[in-house]
Amino acid sequence: MKTVFVTGGAGFIGSALVRLLMAQSEWRVINIDKLTYAGNLESLAAVAGNPRYLFSRTDVCDRAALDLLFAEHRPDGVIHLAAESHVDRSIHGPGEFIATNINGTYTLLEAARAHWQGLTGAERAAFRFHHVSTDEVYGSLGPTGLFSETTPYSPNSPYSASKAASDHLVRAWMHTYGLPVLVTNCSNNYGPYQFPEKLIPLMINNALAGKPLPIYGKGDNVRDWLYVDDHAQALRLVFERGLPGETYNIGGNAEKTNLEVIDALCALLDAQKPRGDGRSYREQKTYVTDRPGHDRRYAIDAGKIARELGWTPRDRFDAGLARTVAWYLANRDWVAHVESGEYRHWMEKNYAARYANEGKA
Ligand code: NAD
Ligand code: DAU
Repeated sequence: MKTVFVTGGAGFIGSALVRLLMAQSEWRVINIDKLTYAGNLESLAAVAGNPRYLFSRTDVCDRAALDLLFAEHRPDGVIHLAAESHVDRSIHGPGEFIATNINGTYTLLEAARAHWQGLTGAERAAFRFHHVSTDEVYGSLGPTGLFSETTPYSPNSPYSASKAASDHLVRAWMHTYGLPVLVTNCSNNYGPYQFPEKLIPLMINNALAGKPLPIYGKGDNVRDWLYVDDHAQALRLVFERGLPGETYNIGGNAEKTNLEVIDALCALLDAQKPRGDGRSYREQKTYVTDRPGHDRRYAIDAGKIARELGWTPRDRFDAGLARTVAWYLANRDWVAHVESGEYRHWMEKNYAARYANEGKA
């Protein structure tokens, strides 16, 4: 049985990838996650008992712990998602972004390189280090044009600068040491289990709580939205079939202004969970001070991954958004636990046995 390390597997996209690999592949998955505020093992309750799944609470900056994991599990590859991921947090406090996104990626690369250099023959040739990154490394677009794999890097926020740095490190580790790496740069994801600091779950939560829906600036910034399970499918495909040294852009072909997204959410909530007073959730929309350095527009040309690997997004934005709203309405417990931190108690109760075995097969 082949083994893959998934870092950040308790986060939004990582947990979607782990659920997919458990349901649709034969991979044995070792989920390496520090469990920051954004890591939540409740998102993995469905796979926790699977004998092909193991969790290790490990910081990707901890080289000694990583070396033990590599020695013990001898993975055939790594899919690296662990990161600090929220732009607003990076503006208020960049330190953790430098530590995890840059130093953490460097530390993981070094541990992976040491492991890979000890491999021989087919195992060495087949090993992959797949780095999961963002379209924000390319900066901001004007009203026209698309980011392609050859767009020059021009990151604007501490978050995107830290991701850009990590992308460069990953590429250098192939160029200098020959480590077989893959890089993917993806647009904005949405779907179930997203931490309610990001636009879509934040708006759903605030709407239901009767709070203002804070729109940065004029609400006319544009993002390209991709359903998280489509991203997870693309990641599996690139990891299994991508060419080492290549970058693949991943996007949803679904450009929307923030106002379009918020109005669509209000309409869905008006239909699925009408306000008690019969008025629309739109009345809660509130314009607030803009995000400093707010990138204007992101849009992805995902032609390369379509042509070379046959991937296109399955979900249309309207269908995916309706399903996302329905999920948040049906999973108020998950949201409440995330907000209260209760999931940490749940985790300690449910994973006590596994913690006892951390780092052991
Ligand atoms: P997330 O914030 O939901 O999850 C991040 C996970 O990483 C959490 O489980 C957290 O506990 C873990 N983590 C953080 N620091 C760690 C450390 N030092 N050691 C080990 N684990 C650590 O993030 P997400 O939205 O799922 O994003 C996952 C990856 O995809 C990130 O690398 C992000 O840059 C990238 N990405 C995200 C999006 C998006 O729209 N969310 C789009 C493109 C790319
Ligand atoms: O493009 C990929 C990136 O998408 C990922 O790399 C990041 O990890 C992910 O967080 C996301 O970054 P954004 O900054 O685009 O996402 P966010 O959900 O924070 O904001 C989306 C847009 O909505 C952005 O233009 C800012 C705006 N916004 C956001 C919040 C939280 C608001 O207007 N109000 C809000 O309260």
